[in-house]
Amino acid sequence: MFINFWYPACLSDELGDAPMKVRMLGCDFALFRDSHGKANCLSDVCIHRGGSLSCKGEQIKSQVIDDNIQCPYHGWQFNGDGLCKKIPSQGPDAKIPERARIDAYPTQEKYGIVFAFLGDLPEDERPPILEAPEADMEGWGVILQTYMLETGYRRSIENAIDPAHNEFVHPTHGFSGKDPNYFVPKLDLIEEEWGVGFMTKYSSSGSPSKDVQAMKDNPVTTAGSGTFGPSQFWTKIQPGGRFKMHQYVYDLPVDEFTTRVFLVSTRNTGLNEEMHNFIAERNKVVAQQDIDILNAV
Ligand code: FES
Repeated sequence: MFINFWYPACLSDELGDAPMKVRMLGCDFALFRDSHGKANCLSDVCIHRGGSLSCKGEQIKSQVIDDNIQCPYHGWQFNGDGLCKKIPSQGPDAKIPERARIDAYPTQEKYGIVFAFLGDLPEDERPPILEAPEADMEGWGVILQTYMLETGYRRSIENAIDPAHNEFVHPTHGFSGKDPNYFVPKLDLIEEEWGVGFMTKYSSSGSPSKDVQAMKDNPVTTAGSGTFGPSQFWTKIQPGGRFKMHQYVYDLPVDEFTTRVFLVSTRNTGLNEEMHNFIAERNKVVAQQDIDILNAV
């Protein structure tokens, strides 16, 4: 697991008025929104006596007061930069020591996801987040989904750029390994600043939906994927006609053996509600096929 990269901490919708605990890279963090709705990310260990800033016990819960998160143990308050703003036991006129601060991590929200930069690089040296340009384009529909893997994120990334598994793991992409003449096609590698990928042509068994006629009519699908940084990747599926599905995936290494996957799935056809729901269900099926394989590796 690497520091100094952006990681998807949670869905924007998951972070409401109450603080939220998120485990990333094997450490606990407290996320909270200030009075302007800005998401903030602090270490979840209070520098006073180790209280959990995101405590959500049966009786005791931490809370946000104005722009600060309040430790539920002795009421110290910290702002989004991690600076201590109040120590109740010191009285109203006490000078708060400069050292009374907690590690804070930059955040930004894109594509319905709260990203946290887990590291200490200055802003102009931080690697970028994988762009999902179609998510903001007219004529494209977006589906945002997450799922869990009981394996480290490296398995997920390997799987994403592994063209040999499609034929066997995803029946809608291939022939379930039943084609005796199947061999992995030649790959055209794409080398980019933050990763490497490929596009190639697969034999396609066709879409399960009669609505995606291009997939049914075309026996060859152009598709590929590529990495971006240590834990993000893209997948492009272009079955023919004008139909394109471009997906952007942000893996959160929860710890060494657990990964939460954030999928931003875009497509330029099938934008009505029925197809939205259909594709969301298909995405779940395809994800479950990968989950079945990866959890058992
Ligand atoms: Fe947080 Fe005391 S442990 S205020």
